[in-house]
Amino acid sequence: MRYSKETIEELRFKADILDVIGEYLRLKRVGKRYVAFCPFHDDKKTPSFSISPELGLYHCFGCKRSGDAFKFISDYLGMTYTEAIEFLAKKYNVNLKAVADKKSSDEIDTLFNVLSSAANIYHANLFKKESAAALEYFYKRNFTQNTLKEFLLGYSINYDNVIHELKKLGFDEKAIVDAGIAGRRNDGSLYDRFAGRVIFTIRDFLGRVVGFGGRDISGRDNVAKYVNSPQTKIYDKSKILYGIFEARNEIRNLDKAIIVEGYIDVISLHQAGIKNVVASSGTALTQKQLDLLGRYSKNLFLVFDADEAGQKATSRAIELGLLKGFDLKIVTLPDGEDPDSLVNNHGKALFEARLRDSKTFLKYSVDTFFAGSEPTALAKSNFARDMLALISKIQDTFQHDFLITELASLLDLTENQVRLLYSERNKNVKPSSQKIETDIPEKPQDLIEEDTLHFNVDEIFPEEKIIIKLAMKLPRYFKIIDEIGVTEATFISASAKTVYSIIHEYSNELNILQSIIEDENYPSSVKNSLISLMMEEEAPSERWKEIDETVENIDVRKIISDALFRLELRIINNEIDEIKSRIANADSEILDRLLKRLAELTHKRNSLTQKILS
Ligand code: CTP
Ligand code: MN
Repeated sequence: MRYSKETIEELRFKADILDVIGEYLRLKRVGKRYVAFCPFHDDKKTPSFSISPELGLYHCFGCKRSGDAFKFISDYLGMTYTEAIEFLAKKYNVNLKAVADKKSSDEIDTLFNVLSSAANIYHANLFKKESAAALEYFYKRNFTQNTLKEFLLGYSINYDNVIHELKKLGFDEKAIVDAGIAGRRNDGSLYDRFAGRVIFTIRDFLGRVVGFGGRDISGRDNVAKYVNSPQTKIYDKSKILYGIFEARNEIRNLDKAIIVEGYIDVISLHQAGIKNVVASSGTALTQKQLDLLGRYSKNLFLVFDADEAGQKATSRAIELGLLKGFDLKIVTLPDGEDPDSLVNNHGKALFEARLRDSKTFLKYSVDTFFAGSEPTALAKSNFARDMLALISKIQDTFQHDFLITELASLLDLTENQVRLLYSERNKNVKPSSQKIETDIPEKPQDLIEEDTLHFNVDEIFPEEKIIIKLAMKLPRYFKIIDEIGVTEATFISASAKTVYSIIHEYSNELNILQSIIEDENYPSSVKNSLISLMMEEEAPSERWKEIDETVENIDVRKIISDALFRLELRIINNEIDEIKSRIANADSEILDRLLKRLAELTHKRNSLTQKILS
């Protein structure tokens, strides 16, 4: 924790949960508790959101979200937990004390301050006589007065003006340089990096200025079109989405976000009334950007240029988006148009029509694949495999079925053909041929070529861990498990499937784990996770103790069948939960079927429970 315990406690005391939540929801007292309509799910009939002032906690009986005042702010306003604490501290006048580094937080504050001042100076410049060209440029782009203000657009008059003004406000040279506003010449003097350019102010999701993009308006050939802030302590372009501050409420309200390429696209769409738009600002979309966006919505419309770079960016974004659990739609624009030119030349309606005509990622990929000359049979079969690899990245394996159906119809194949290829593929997962994901490197450029493995120990269920640990322990155990009929398909989590396929490959080795560790085809992150999995202290079940103690004499069959029952139970319980949640809104015909299935499942669950207990 970054802040001292005492100050957090003080904040907890002052930021009373009723007060905090009461600002956003209408609360009604019921006995000792307060209730409200839950803001986190569609809660129309009875208020299912309940607050206990005594415990300082809330819980929704509908969507099961719960937490304290900090958690509420973090979910409701889309902040991290720490950001929520900082937000409330400010509001309730609590002076948070960082545990360690007071100096660095002062330094960060200074960076925010100097950037904010610079943004104001650039913006005010726009309306000076010597900035006529800049203002004219923005008007030519159709930007209104209000847009100039709302997006804090500006102009850097020359190399010195902003530096001079900032110094007058008391900022020292170091801060101006560290904030990425000025560079230092050989003689030690400072120059404004954005001199002579119009300024796009880049803000984070809380509206704090973190950097600038400067666009050339001279039109000269040999200058860069855009100059952007360099990496600083507070500007990391892989984390920033341009426009997120202006777009976030709309994204949450509409539960969808549109991703475009450029600053101008964001502003033009926003001005046209399409406000749920952000830009990745010319870099490949990154994991961190998706994490940020995912706080507001999981429905994503990708709008990239139709050129080759745009296509590459799109397929990369599809891959990452699927991994992160986004529902993706791909929007294609007429050749040579970008969102800005489309709304400005042809109107908002046309862009909206394009949104409506957006394609699923499979449809988009298939269309792109067949766009050129007729592909060979080999190319087609490779393509089908690539698509299955993409589908396999989706954690929610339930979707795989639907997507296989869709893919079959798009490729004019029977479902069985595709299903066969799919199960074939999952049998022979090889590290060199398969693209699966683990921790992704920081730099967005590296993302493109990374050939990685999907693997995260935390995602593996306890029952799966038992099977995996045993299989990895001794080849003899693996054989038994294999005989019982366990395959990758037996597992629920994608990570367990991955590990099991790796183990499968090494099942003839004397020491499976050792062999994997020595294989340089696997990234060290995977190896480390496997090791930690094997050494995990917390026993996934009582039985695991037995396994560790009496390696020779355990009844592997019994343990595995037990774990398999529990895994099945988990699947049944998941389905029961899903049916229960659907029952609430089902019409009578569907309700009938749901209830029938529920009865079936409940029966199955009971007999399974019997077996497990016996
Ligand atoms: N970009 C950049 N550096 C460049 C070119 C582009 O940072 N040298 C980023 C900018 O964020 C830009 C986006 O990539 O907004 C898209 O680039 P482009 O389509 O070339 O620019 P537009 O914003 O569309 O500008 P314009 O309409 O004036 O061409
Ligand atoms: Mn453009």
